Amino acid sequence: MPTSQPYWSAAIRSAVGVGGRQGCNHDNTSPECRRLEEDDDEEEEEEEEELRGAEEKVEMERREEESPHSLIQCPGTNLRTQGATLELLKTCFRRWSYGAHRSPLRRIHSLKHDATKCRQSLRRPLGRPMTACAPEDISSFGRRHTLGKLLLRIPFQHATMVKQPKGPLAWGVANRYVHSPQVSTPSPSTSSSIHHLTSTTRTVTDCISSPNPSTECQPQAVGKKQKVLQNAEAEEGDEVLQEMDEFGNMRFSHSAQPHPTESVSRNPLRTAHVLDHGPLSTDGPLQQLQKEEGHEAARDVAAIDGKDAGREVVGEHEGSSEIFQRRQPRGMPSSLSSRGSRALLPFSPYIEVINRAKKNIWSPSNLLGYFPMGTAESILTFDLVIDKIRKCRNVPRNIGLYDNMCGGERLRCALARMMERTFMGVAVDPAHICISSGVTAVLDLFFFAVCDPGDGCLIPAPYFPAFDNDMSVRNAVVPIPVQPRDIGTYIPTAEDLENAYSLAEEKGVHPRMLLLTNPGNPLGTLYPEETLCELLVWAMEKGLHVLTDEIYANSKFGEHTSRFVSMAKVGNQAVAKGLVREDELKERVHTAYGMSKDFGLSGFRVGCIHTRNQDLLDVWSNLGMFAAVSTDTQHALAEMLEDDEFVKTYVKTNNMRLKNSYDIFTGALRDANVTFMPACAGMFCWVDLRFLLSEPTFPAEEALWKEMVVKAHVVLTPGAACHCVEPGFFRACYATMLPDKLHMACKKLIEFVDSMRLKQQKTSDGKRKASELSQEG
Ligand SMILES: Cc1ncc(COP(=O)(O)O)c(C=O)c1O
Repeated sequence: MPTSQPYWSAAIRSAVGVGGRQGCNHDNTSPECRRLEEDDDEEEEEEEEELRGAEEKVEMERREEESPHSLIQCPGTNLRTQGATLELLKTCFRRWSYGAHRSPLRRIHSLKHDATKCRQSLRRPLGRPMTACAPEDISSFGRRHTLGKLLLRIPFQHATMVKQPKGPLAWGVANRYVHSPQVSTPSPSTSSSIHHLTSTTRTVTDCISSPNPSTECQPQAVGKKQKVLQNAEAEEGDEVLQEMDEFGNMRFSHSAQPHPTESVSRNPLRTAHVLDHGPLSTDGPLQQLQKEEGHEAARDVAAIDGKDAGREVVGEHEGSSEIFQRRQPRGMPSSLSSRGSRALLPFSPYIEVINRAKKNIWSPSNLLGYFPMGTAESILTFDLVIDKIRKCRNVPRNIGLYDNMCGGERLRCALARMMERTFMGVAVDPAHICISSGVTAVLDLFFFAVCDPGDGCLIPAPYFPAFDNDMSVRNAVVPIPVQPRDIGTYIPTAEDLENAYSLAEEKGVHPRMLLLTNPGNPLGTLYPEETLCELLVWAMEKGLHVLTDEIYANSKFGEHTSRFVSMAKVGNQAVAKGLVREDELKERVHTAYGMSKDFGLSGFRVGCIHTRNQDLLDVWSNLGMFAAVSTDTQHALAEMLEDDEFVKTYVKTNNMRLKNSYDIFTGALRDANVTFMPACAGMFCWVDLRFLLSEPTFPAEEALWKEMVVKAHVVLTPGAACHCVEPGFFRACYATMLPDKLHMACKKLIEFVDSMRLKQQKTSDGKRKASELSQEG
């Protein structure tokens, strides 16, 4: 029976009594769910009432519309508005912003209703393509908002540009609104208040002003609705809206290969389109929506521009907000191709923060520095590996010439031998190894060769955040996160894959391949052999390619390391058992490996693929040149890997050091009663901080992440970035620093956790006292 809470945390959580908010569990007949449903009804009535009131007010205002006195001048601008109109918009926003607990159907219905009202009032066919638009014309919030989306469809050719102050949603949306040519056309009397807004707006410089920008509209909450409405409406013209990315940049994403079924990513990391199915059907609709919305909202929060994002969470910590500053779009349509435009900004808002932290690392002489634990990198064996590399630098005379673009013979042989002996457990022919500049390049070439634009790639979640970018930004492959039913272990089953596969097909995305990572990033766990076999057999039946990324295969420690089995070996065993055919294995099962992780040489940019597919090998020899590894680097690595004794001792020492750092980190967590998922591989710890969330949502996760960065200077990776289905989990890479510094990072992290606990305690005490007082009163 699946649970909403991983098995490994239940015992400790109950012992400690720090249970995170669980919201409703899967059983939506629980009293919690019923209560929410009842609240839902009441709220809906209240909102209807509120909207009716606002409409009446607007109607009154309409009667007085001839009077110029009803226009309010916005201080410091040439913008004018009408108070009641403002009220109406605010009411609409509120309706669309809250009620995350509602059932999806009801919400879709309510959104549709509002959307229809807006459209009717605009009295124009929808879906007309947008023409010119000055990016500063709408705030980034407005672009992402549902109402903003409706209004984005209005042509801009007659618009007068008004300098748009950065600020709340209302500004952007309303400004866009009044820039529509429709607004200057008085419409016949109608009870539609939105209609009234258009008819009473006199000039294109009129605008809605929010008296208190910071409190009027909640950008996070607003963002949540976008996907729902998008699904609900799915009609002509929507592709125009998708051209606006979440960074508020003009993008013509996927226009080179438009795919009608691609949805905008719900993940804060992605500019890519991801086919996110969310949790599978064991969830009740309520929980599904909570999760789905969390992703959606997190994306929107992440898309908030740097200053606002910093201010939003940082608040009183003035001066710390630079770390959150986002690179801004240039503010004009790019002259690059649609593909180029897809890659304009870093794929992840977290990456920017992590990179900034890496440039300002904590040390005893830099006490204000950061502890960057968000990059999958290990520095634990610098001493060994760099010493060895230095000794391998005696280059031959012909080193400067072109060589085989799939990798020189010597390195291919050295890699094949090392892989065969250390982790693959099958004979590896160097002719089946192709080398490229990192596993990232391997994946890129693989997606190019195996998938057509718009094809899907199934990936069990949570997964390595950059995969989305790797597959979509250049090759327009659609990531299909597979949410395992068992969110205690996150081990997927063939049934999970089947569900994700069917849903993708329903949405018109044809899955072409399955991407597995073993050992896993972000969990640091291993797939059991039976699971690998089950997934392989299923994928072969479906005619999919299977690429297993085994980049952490030599980073294993602890008692369970012998459980690691390479997919190549599992495949051979499956053939022997008659579960799959040899020819399909040769054609469609591949392994990726690289030097970035186990050997701590991420800067060397060396990765490889093991494949027996002759077509793929041929493609590689043709295209390998685009991402070939320098012969100098190849030479040094070959020398290093040919030294069997070195490799053996190195791998052993590396794993001891990884284990030591893992123990330091998890020991600190244990002491502080923080739960985590036990790991035995990679360099990760999956930390459960759900109990610190102000509410069980992804925006709350984002807020907690930022607060941790600001207060503890510890930079982890939020679970949302890895497509985790439940908010509150964080990935920590404990190998990014040596043990002495790690102790300090742990100290800072735990101090932060304790301070947050204290804050929670104070808040709940305060609430209790207040309710006691009100009862007495
Ligand atoms: C699972 C996985 N695959 C691939 C990569 C990228 O590796 P490379 O540096 O070889 O491009 C990473 C890096 O974090 C990873 O975690």
